[in-house]
Amino acid sequence: MTAADSYPPSSPQAPVVVAHGGAGADSQHKDGCAAAAEAGLARLRGGADAVQAAVAAVGVLEDDPRFNAGTGSVLRMDGVTIEMDAAVMDSQGRLGAVAGLRRVRHPVEVAAAVADTPHWLLCGEGALRFARHIGAADHDPTTAQALHKHAAMLKDLQQGKRLIPGEDNASFAQYWNFATPLAVAPGQACDTVGAVVRDAAGRFAVAGSTGGCAPALLGRVGDTPIIGAGFYAGPAGAVAVTGIGEHIVRHLLAHTVHGWLAGGMRLPQALQRALTLFDPAIDIGLIAVSATESGARSNRDMPWAAAGDAQLP
Ligand code: GLY
Repeated sequence: MTAADSYPPSSPQAPVVVAHGGAGADSQHKDGCAAAAEAGLARLRGGADAVQAAVAAVGVLEDDPRFNAGTGSVLRMDGVTIEMDAAVMDSQGRLGAVAGLRRVRHPVEVAAAVADTPHWLLCGEGALRFARHIGAADHDPTTAQALHKHAAMLKDLQQGKRLIPGEDNASFAQYWNFATPLAVAPGQACDTVGAVVRDAAGRFAVAGSTGGCAPALLGRVGDTPIIGAGFYAGPAGAVAVTGIGEHIVRHLLAHTVHGWLAGGMRLPQALQRALTLFDPAIDIGLIAVSATESGARSNRDMPWAAAGDAQLP
């Protein structure tokens, strides 16, 4: 099933939270997105601002091992390392991100905390030290499911399946950069989680989190923590993107879609137009909220849900 739903216009400034579980993820896991959206809405109703609500929604998805973010993140090609990316932004200019972060439970909370520093993006060792500094405890996000997925990916690679459209599997062996030797000849997983929010004051926020792509070299960063690519929030709305980061960044997709919304394009048309920028072989999905609309589109199965004053189509 292709996610091709959107909500009709709602009254301006009606609070709404939309959450997704990644392009290419199982849409039967929609219940996890619904729980995330409801958690974000509960924060809004409790007086939180849009970005706090988006972080709460994504935190629920990071704790759900069915999704590739936080606990349940995919493994890098060595079968051991997990590197996670996350970001937050709101229409008031709040902006924070982390890349290549290891061993924390909620990368999105670390990203939100980066917004309070003089910087917008911390990566690798610095991000980890910062996480510990703000009290994020050591947490191993590895799950049995992720180990199983990794084994299945290696099997696919050994059978010669091309796992990233347009990329030769041999590239991973050619550029191998792990401390451990390549154990096998080099499934494709690139799903991400995200949430977009419109609060009662009409402010917008977005948050996203991912374990990245599989297969991936050490230190690989996709679109999720890159402003304008995987996420963007501005005066016209908020946009979160999921799919293969290497392709998404080339279109600065979230910023591009925000620009279309700012130019007056209806939200469903903007999301649909975004999909047409990509070869159908590339997994792409988006969620967005504007002053009057919210919705989702993907060229793959994509679990997503909304909570708030939006009405079901
Ligand atoms: N969209 C997730 C990634 O490419 O890392």
